[in-house]
Amino acid sequence: MSRTAEKRHDELVKLIHAHNYRYYVLDDPAVTDREYDALYADLTKLEAKHPELRSDDSPSQRVGDKLRSDLRTVEHVVPMMSLDNTYSEEELEDFDRRVRDRLSASAKPVYTVEPKLDGASVEILYREGRLAGGSTRGDGLTGEEILENLKTMRSLPTRIDYAGPLTLRAEVVIYRRELDRINETRVAAGDAPFANPRNAAAGSLRMLDPRVVAKRPLRPMIYQAVEGPDLAPTHSKSLDALAKLGLPTHRAHVRCETMEAVHEAVAELEKGRADYPYEIDGVVVKVDEFGMQDILGSTAKFPRWAIAYKFEAERAWTKLLEITVQVGRTGALTPVANLEPVSLAGTTVSRASLHNKDIIDKLDVRVGDRVAIQKAGEIIPQVIDVDRAARKGKPRKFRMPKKCPACKTPVVSTEDQVALRCPNPGCPAIVRESLHHYSRRFAMDVDHLGPSLIDQLVERELVRDVADLYDLDAAQVQSLDRMGKKSAENVIAAIAASKTRTFDRLLTGLGIEHIGQVAAKQLAEAGGSLRTVLEWTAEQTRENVDAIAGFGPKMVEAFADYLFDPTARALLEKLHARGVSVAQPKEEVVAGGVLDGSSFCVTGVLSRKREAVHADIRAAGGTVHDKVKKGTSYLVAGEKVGKSKLDTAKKHGTEVIDEKKLAEMLSGGDDLP
Ligand code: IVH
Repeated sequence: MSRTAEKRHDELVKLIHAHNYRYYVLDDPAVTDREYDALYADLTKLEAKHPELRSDDSPSQRVGDKLRSDLRTVEHVVPMMSLDNTYSEEELEDFDRRVRDRLSASAKPVYTVEPKLDGASVEILYREGRLAGGSTRGDGLTGEEILENLKTMRSLPTRIDYAGPLTLRAEVVIYRRELDRINETRVAAGDAPFANPRNAAAGSLRMLDPRVVAKRPLRPMIYQAVEGPDLAPTHSKSLDALAKLGLPTHRAHVRCETMEAVHEAVAELEKGRADYPYEIDGVVVKVDEFGMQDILGSTAKFPRWAIAYKFEAERAWTKLLEITVQVGRTGALTPVANLEPVSLAGTTVSRASLHNKDIIDKLDVRVGDRVAIQKAGEIIPQVIDVDRAARKGKPRKFRMPKKCPACKTPVVSTEDQVALRCPNPGCPAIVRESLHHYSRRFAMDVDHLGPSLIDQLVERELVRDVADLYDLDAAQVQSLDRMGKKSAENVIAAIAASKTRTFDRLLTGLGIEHIGQVAAKQLAEAGGSLRTVLEWTAEQTRENVDAIAGFGPKMVEAFADYLFDPTARALLEKLHARGVSVAQPKEEVVAGGVLDGSSFCVTGVLSRKREAVHADIRAAGGTVHDKVKKGTSYLVAGEKVGKSKLDTAKKHGTEVIDEKKLAEMLSGGDDLP
């Protein structure tokens, strides 16, 4: 190979990255798409002629085609710690005091104030100028290896002009404006939309196929160099130095010499929160000088040189256009606020829940009102306030309908009298929601059964309950809108494939009140198969179910009521007759396991799939509950745990532990209960 080819290759690599930086980081492209494509074409042509130039870190090799079956676990070079949280300015003053107390009297700490980006954190490694490794946060000590996925992110250079070892921390974010687009595609494919950009980023990062990851607009934002000899003596200068190397830093840090300046910078950032293209859930205040950071060190959990100041949950004001009433899977009628679209915490919101009549009365909300909405962990936000002063005229009070809006059957009150219910099991709205739930991934996982297909099946009365799915033939499906022969065959094949799911998935898919995924699994294990359970007498049912660990009277009654309800029973028999009745594989029960006798509820954002955590607990002899209740020994809390969960834990004397603690317990650590 000629020297000129090698030189030209190097030039092209650098040029392409420089343009990526302008485009993805600075949002200020220097060339047109066409010019960029021409450079890229030059690169691939050159590599075709000289294949030896096509190294793994060439921009042409960003998207690997290796589909992995699992992500490998790797140890972090430096443990990834969390940050101590505060919610008030006084607490920031306390932080400053603690810092000064630990430093020598003459030391004058300077602080950096920067956004706390709300995404998924990763470790990124460069070795000898090459992008050489990357992992998710995991439990802080180990994470999942995701180098192939990081490589698909074009703002991350694969080569840099820095030879020393570089270990970086970044938050991978998705811009708000891009999330709506991802969600539209997901909903069209029958998948649940992501509730926020963080979930979307975290989910995308851990996908097994880099080709799919490459299609997600993921942006790593570097916020810390934890290893980088001679990069700079201070945090703020190190971020500047990294940016100079072409690395995507957040570029939003402010250096503050006094606490007044810190408070000002915090206020400024909070005010400008909505102007950032990505979600920010607070600010991070850090001691700027690395030397001082080293002296301060860290506690078991947090560095002593940094603290997070968390913002209040975002709320948005908008106009209430209409109140409609939705009929859910159980027949419950829920009033829903249809709103003038407004952007809130990363998604465009046009609907919010009004819960029930009591809440509507309490808020005294009327059509046309200006209302405040807030997200409460779920995808559908809630109406939390009404601007009554801005109300014009005398809009009518809202009244819940006396008949089901979908099938016109007179509604009935629920037991607690707060909600209303449609009692007609054949109601098209109930059938539609049941089908949707039945086919969800964690339930019977029926692929290709999207919302529009479900709507048509119900409207044309081809399907009146979930068992009818198994009577469909390809010709019927093909007669529906936008259905080709091949797609229709795929739908039928997917429905047939669902017959082989395990019994617990069927129980989950039926959506029995109070029976979530975990309870369904316990029930399935206790019963063994659909046939056996159908043969239980009412008395046997109560006895067998009552014996399941963690099943309270409500759950026992709910399951017995379901099993002996004539409509439900007919449905179960119908499913059984169609061959949907596989048995539950027996899981090995670990007698004398390290978690024997302890029960767990797992919640919050975790480093891995919740089911995997459940499986580990069970394998060690522990039991798993869906919710914290009396007798639950531990609440395993990931990030972003709701306050109500923590309150319930407190009420029942349940110990709250994190993933790391659970890992210690699983490995039989010393501090076992
Ligand atoms: S510094 C040793 N800076 O917040 C470094 N963290 O609650 C300690 N985060 O795991 C963290 N933006 O994922 C730092 N500007 C920022 C951040 C930030 C977001 C995340 C990070 C960390 C979590 C701690």
